[in-house]
Amino acid sequence: MHPTVVREDDAVVMIDQRKLPAAEVYVRCRTATEVAKAIKTMVIRGAPAIGVAAAFGIALGMRKSTATGTQKFAADFYRTCEMMAATRPTAVNLFWAIERMKRTFAEAANAGASVAQIQDRLDREAMAIHDEDIASCRAMGAWGASVVPAEARILTHCNAGALATAGYGTALGVVRGAVEAGKRVTVFADETRPFLQGARLTAWELVRDGIDTTVITDNMAGSLMRQGGVNFVVVGADRIAANGDTANKIGTYGVAVLAREHNIPFYVAAPLSTIDLATPDGSKIPIEERNAKEVTHVAGTQLAATGAHVWNPAFDVTPHQFISGIITERGIFRAPYTESLRAAFDVEAVARS
Ligand code: MRU
Repeated sequence: MHPTVVREDDAVVMIDQRKLPAAEVYVRCRTATEVAKAIKTMVIRGAPAIGVAAAFGIALGMRKSTATGTQKFAADFYRTCEMMAATRPTAVNLFWAIERMKRTFAEAANAGASVAQIQDRLDREAMAIHDEDIASCRAMGAWGASVVPAEARILTHCNAGALATAGYGTALGVVRGAVEAGKRVTVFADETRPFLQGARLTAWELVRDGIDTTVITDNMAGSLMRQGGVNFVVVGADRIAANGDTANKIGTYGVAVLAREHNIPFYVAAPLSTIDLATPDGSKIPIEERNAKEVTHVAGTQLAATGAHVWNPAFDVTPHQFISGIITERGIFRAPYTESLRAAFDVEAVARS
């Protein structure tokens, strides 16, 4: 499979996720503005993938900057960062990646680096963000496999797979990790209205990997659980607040409530870059509202009655009480999340020092 997003000398190349699974089309973004547009219009989507694309886009934009002096170069850089930050509001990985690029820029500039040297540093940092994301997903997969039942009937929502990351996936990384650990796994993919990431993307990825996959419409999950068809739920996340409240694709909250009612473990898989300790709880997470046409139309055909109002929040928040554990590259964290998530970062700090 072609990687989700690739940096080439003069472009950032990504598979067009709006066109999958009908067509495998690759989009070549030749400027930072084109990368920002690709994120906004969901050519590329999924929290970690958005962060990686933004970092690549910033590095590309600065590589192409015509500035010769560091002052103009700095002005270009901060303008490019602002443009990336304005693409999508919920996934914190975007802001995390931009902050890393800003830190890299400041360190190089403060050390007196030339424009060419700063460009090299930005390229290296963006590539590090990409490579670390794949490593994190693989680590999540290994940790997550330990809590997946030996005979697993896994329900997932949206696409938290290779397409939503630099590769391997978070929730689907756990699925892949379980398969690699020799567990017998079948997956139920919620179709995930309105953008259909589950039916289009999750099913596409898993079928290509030879993993048994059944697509259900979102309103079938409760009935399936009631009949004993699911014994494990794992989803990704766009932002996890300090208390464990988790924003993920709209519909995740409903799945969590159903899982609780049917005593099914409900896990969130996400890298530490998705955890936002500066946001105390889910009520403070900004929720993106998208175009009404995503709800009224499917594949360009209008289904909803003309004149009806539309509400189209792209994400919802699952309160931490519904979450059995948060699977990260550093291990599985459990309630009370305010303490366990903070400790996860302390360990990080210790490891770096
Ligand atoms: O609107 P999207 O497709 O970007 O939303 C994606 C999700 O909600 C994913 O579940 C989340 O980003 C985790 S991706 C590893």
